[in-house]
This record gives sequence, C-alpha cells and structure tokens, in this order.
Amino acid sequence: MTEPILQIENLHGWYDESHVLHGVTLEARRGETVALIGRNGAGKTSTLRAAMNLLGRREGSIRVNGRETIGMPRHKVAYTGLGYVPEERGIFASLSVQENLMLLPSIGENGMSVARIYEIFPNLRERRRAAAGTLSGGEQQMLAMARVLRTGPQLLLLDEPTEGLAPVIVKAIGSLLAQLKADGMTMLLVEQNFHFARRLADRFYLIENGRITDHFDREGLEAHADRVADVVGV
Ligand SMILES: Nc1ncnc2c1ncn2[C@@H]1O[C@H](COP(=O)(O)OP(=O)(O)OP(=O)(O)O)[C@@H](O)[C@H]1O
Ligand SMILES: [Mg+2]
Repeated sequence: MTEPILQIENLHGWYDESHVLHGVTLEARRGETVALIGRNGAGKTSTLRAAMNLLGRREGSIRVNGRETIGMPRHKVAYTGLGYVPEERGIFASLSVQENLMLLPSIGENGMSVARIYEIFPNLRERRRAAAGTLSGGEQQMLAMARVLRTGPQLLLLDEPTEGLAPVIVKAIGSLLAQLKADGMTMLLVEQNFHFARRLADRFYLIENGRITDHFDREGLEAHADRVADVVGV
C-alpha cells in the first residue's frame, strides 16, 4: 500500500447552526482514485469544502501528507497539495481560456506548464483566445480541471465533473481522468453518476446524511450492489 495523502477522521461540519457532517471518515492513498457516492444533500460537496477549510465550522481531523489541517487558516490549506475543482467550476467567464490558465501561479515543481495542458486538452488550445464564458459545458469543466492542474496538486478533489454534460463529453472527461490516474494522480471523485465512477475508482465510500455508511473496493462492488442501489438508485 502507498502512503495516505488525505486522511479524514470523524469530521463534523456546520453551516452556521446547521450541522451537516456527522463524523465522516475516509482516506485517499497516493495514486488511488476514491469515489464518494451519495444522493442530493448527502454531504459530498460539504466534505470537499471542509477539506479545503471552506465550511463555517469543522471538528475532527483532516491530515494532508500526515499534517493536521483542521486548525490551519484557509489560505494555507490551498498550499498543502489539495487541488479543488468545485461543482460551479470557478472560472472567469470574461477572461480568455489562456488568461484563466495563467491566472493561478504554479505552486511547487509539479505545476503543469501551459504547453503540457494544451497537449492533454487539445480543444483548450484551439479555443485559447475565446472568452471562457463562451465555452461549452464540457470545455468549461476541462478548463476548471486544467487550471487546478497548473498549481501542481498531489490530490484532485473533483465535485461531480460530469454533471449536466452530454454522454460524449462525459466519455471524454472519463478518458482524461483515466490518463491522469495512469500518470499517478490521486483523486477524490464525488459523483452521483455511479456508472461513471465505477470505471475509474479503486475504492468507494457511500455517504448518507453526513455519514459514511459503507466502503469497499472494486472486488467488493458486486457484493455491495444493493447498497449502491439504495444510495444512488441504480
Ligand atoms: N451554504 C449552505 N448553507 C446551509 N446549508 C447548506 C449549504 N450548502 C449545503 N447545505 C446543506 O448541507 C447538506 C449537505 O449538502 P451538500 O451540498 O454537501 O450535499 P451534496 O451531497 O453535495 O448534494 P448534491 O448532490 O445535491 O450536490 C444539505 O442538507 C444541504 O441542504
Ligand atoms: Mg454537491
């Protein structure tokens, strides 16, 4: 087994008075793709936001490369090696594709060059002078991932990267993630689309009402098919 990059233990999280995470425990080891599966409102996004210290209040433990981040200020968490691609993508619509890519400095020696980004995402090269707001949903998702890869993350936190995209684009995103995985990237993939997640993930966590209610690896998939169906209705 490789070493853990992210270890979340007994994580509780709140939005103001609203207690939404009730003791989440999960980990991602170097090179793994881990899927966090759950229905609407289960706490998937909140778990990722908590890892980035973007929730109002958190308790428990979140270690990145063995280092506790629960008391760390938000701007420091961004430099621990976590790369967050939020559901809303966070790209700048009025800036060009290339400007979006140049906006964040590359952090550490692992940051991807723009040239390498364009190799992996040839359609972003083609559209590099276009305003990001004019890209298709799939291209915007790719730009959001590319921006984060520029910063050289050790672990990608991906929040529903296929949501609202046409099947052919979902397939393209799947190939990209498979390539990143083959290159050794560690990923925590939040999905409601279990069919997408099952092709990529090495391990699976089911989340319900802010708690992890099951976890299993690929070999355990079949034995847990009923549980998966309960949670995401496939
Ligand atoms: N900004 C917020 N303020 C208050 N409550 C929130 C906020 N965002 C989410 N919640 C609540 O926290 C709980 C978990 O929401 P979360 O967004 O983490 O779910 P999710 O699993 O990502 O769902 P979805 O699949 O719809 O994206 C839900 O009950 C939700 O209503
Ligand atoms: Mg969500």
